[in-house]
Amino acid sequence: VVVDARAIGIFDSGVGGLTVARAVLDMLPHESVLYFGDTARMPYGPRPLEEINKFAREIAAFMLGRDVKALVVACNSIEVAAIEDLTESSGIPVVGVIDPGVRAALRATRNGRIGVIGTEATIASRAYERALGRAGDAELFSQACPAFVPLVEQGDTTSDKLLSAARDYLQPLIEAKVDTLILGCTHYPLLSGLLQVVMGPDVVLISSAEETAKDVYATLVRHELLGPESSSPSHDFLCSGDPEAFLALASRVLGPEAAEVRATSVQPARLGGVAWS
Ligand code: DGL
Repeated sequence: VVVDARAIGIFDSGVGGLTVARAVLDMLPHESVLYFGDTARMPYGPRPLEEINKFAREIAAFMLGRDVKALVVACNSIEVAAIEDLTESSGIPVVGVIDPGVRAALRATRNGRIGVIGTEATIASRAYERALGRAGDAELFSQACPAFVPLVEQGDTTSDKLLSAARDYLQPLIEAKVDTLILGCTHYPLLSGLLQVVMGPDVVLISSAEETAKDVYATLVRHELLGPESSSPSHDFLCSGDPEAFLALASRVLGPEAAEVRATSVQPARLGGVAWS
C-alpha cells in the first residue's frame, strides 16, 4: 500500500478555513495538516480578484515550499479568484469548497429554491450560478454579506449588530422562499446559530466543510496520497497577523487540537519572496 506522510495544506484569509480543517481532521485522523490564515490581509472579500489571486499564489508557493501533498482552498473568495491557476501550476491536487457546497444543497432542497450568501468577491463572480448549472437544476438567489467576515474575525458570532445585519441581508432570500441556504463563505458556519434564527427552523443551512472533507478524502485515495495509519500526525497552524488573537479563535473553532496549535506569524513579505513557477 502506498502511503504519503506529507501534510495537507489548507488555507484561508483567516479563521474561516478552520471549519474545513476541523472536518478534515475528523474524517482523516492520520493526516498532518499545515494551515495558513492570512489574517494580516483579511478580509479578502472586498478586494479585486487580481489581488486575491496574487495573495493565493504567494500562499500556495509557501505551502509548496513546505512540501504539502495537496492543497485545500478553504475559502470561496480565493477559489473564485485563483483555483484554476493553482490547479494548473501547483503540480499537486487542489480541492475547493464551491462544488461540494452545491452538491450538498441540491441533495437538501425540497422546493428547488436555493439561496447562497458569501463575500462580495464570491457573489459578484457568479461562480455559484455556474457550479449549480453544471451540477443540477434549481433556482439560485444570491446575496453578499460584507459585514460578516470582519466581525467573525473579531470573535463576534452573536451580537445585536450581527443579528440586525443578518436580518437585512437575508430578507430578500426569505421573500424568495428559499428552503436551503448555502453558506458560501467558510467563516459563515460560525454564524449558523444566528443564521438559523433569522431564516427560521425549516431552512436547511449548508456548510461546505464536511462535504469538502469528503472530496479531500476521495482525492487522497485517487492519487494514492493517504498518510500512514501507524504514525501520529503533526499539525501546524500559521497566520500572518497576531498569533495570539488567531490562537484564541482557533481554539474555539478547532476544539481539542487547538491545544497543539503552534501559531506562527508568517509575514506577507516573506511569502512574496517564494518563487512561483
Ligand atoms: N473565508 C473566506 C471565504 O470563504 C472569507 C474571505 C474574506 O476574507 O473576506 O470567502
